[in-house]
Amino acid sequence: MSTPLNTTLCRRLGIRYPIFGFSHSVDVTVALANAGCFPIYGATRDMPDEIVSHLKEIRERIGTGKFGVDLLLPSGVGSETDRAAVVAGLPAENKAFIEQLRTKYNVPPATKATFFSSQIRSQQLFAEQIDAVLGSSADAFAAGIGLPASVIQRAAQCGKFTISLVGSAKHAVAAKTAGVDLIVAQGADAGGHTGPIGTYSLVPQVVEAAGDVPVLAAGGVGHGRHIAAAFGLGAQGVWLGTAWLTSREHAFNEILLRQVLAARGEDTVISKSHSGKSARLIRSAWTDEWEAPSAPKPLPMPYQQVLTGELLAAVEEHGIEALSYTGAGQGVGWFNELKTVDEIVERLVSETQGALDQMNARLSGN
Ligand SMILES: Cc1cc2nc3c(=O)[nH]c(=O)nc-3n(C[C@H](O)[C@H](O)[C@H](O)COP(=O)(O)O)c2cc1C
Repeated sequence: MSTPLNTTLCRRLGIRYPIFGFSHSVDVTVALANAGCFPIYGATRDMPDEIVSHLKEIRERIGTGKFGVDLLLPSGVGSETDRAAVVAGLPAENKAFIEQLRTKYNVPPATKATFFSSQIRSQQLFAEQIDAVLGSSADAFAAGIGLPASVIQRAAQCGKFTISLVGSAKHAVAAKTAGVDLIVAQGADAGGHTGPIGTYSLVPQVVEAAGDVPVLAAGGVGHGRHIAAAFGLGAQGVWLGTAWLTSREHAFNEILLRQVLAARGEDTVISKSHSGKSARLIRSAWTDEWEAPSAPKPLPMPYQQVLTGELLAAVEEHGIEALSYTGAGQGVGWFNELKTVDEIVERLVSETQGALDQMNARLSGN
């Protein structure tokens, strides 16, 4: 028996599959829309003018297709905007550690600026990013970290479908109270910033707390069996991030692509070395060095990325393999071949249908 995946949520949102795809790549965002998913473009590393131009490009390339935009809006980040002054005030111990890594791994200076080597996250930057997103034609707005209720209300007034990523039932209640249209229960299996509760435990708790607000399951989804299970856990769809890192459209640099294609779930670790907040990353000398007993504690967001921005820009520019890392979830082992977004989606959909058929057969005793 084949089970169509065209769910109530799909019909409500005008998408073919209840699969939401998160990506920092414009090309992946466009490919996800063409593959029948709901794409969410991650704009946190874009300056406001880049957000405007990237969202315009996405709209031009997908026509009337649906897409959303995600921002990270942590309330703990302050209003310092003078990056040089912040650099000057960083603890000497942490700066010395970075210089040790630079020498040990023979990293030449970066010649090209990146977002993290030239900017600092601040409430002022967030306000400008929010304006750029809310003034765009994006259909949805997602808050990855942080949940400013006033921004959710403004987004709704601008006609955007609003989404909040949560890692606990408590945060799901806050998201529901803020009036979001959709909650993403993102478990600890996920790549990128994540809380401590695993997806399997988290999703039913969030579903209960969310009441009539639909919930998506995120974190560790790598096979259609996970998608079938997500429905069993009470979710109305799934939200994936790691999957698309291995897509042709993502155009990852060679080192990171090799790392992601080779990685298994056990090759990922939770570390604060990326941003100062817990994030699941592929283990490398970078994460190991920060775990060493002699290493300083990572600084809180946004200071850790101010501290590490130039060194990591140089690591990327000069291809320093040992220190290279990316966020990736525990489902990474299911993505071990370079494929198009469309091929990844078609595999997941056909596996989901197979898993649902098997489940139905098992339950009916056939
Ligand atoms: C490399 C990478 C970067 C991410 N960056 C963000 C981000 O900027 N904002 C956000 O809300 N989530 C971010 N995430 C988390 C995704 O939105 C998603 O919840 C997660 O990838 C789902 O788990 P999975 O990686 O197992 O598919 C990121 C994930 C990865 C892998």
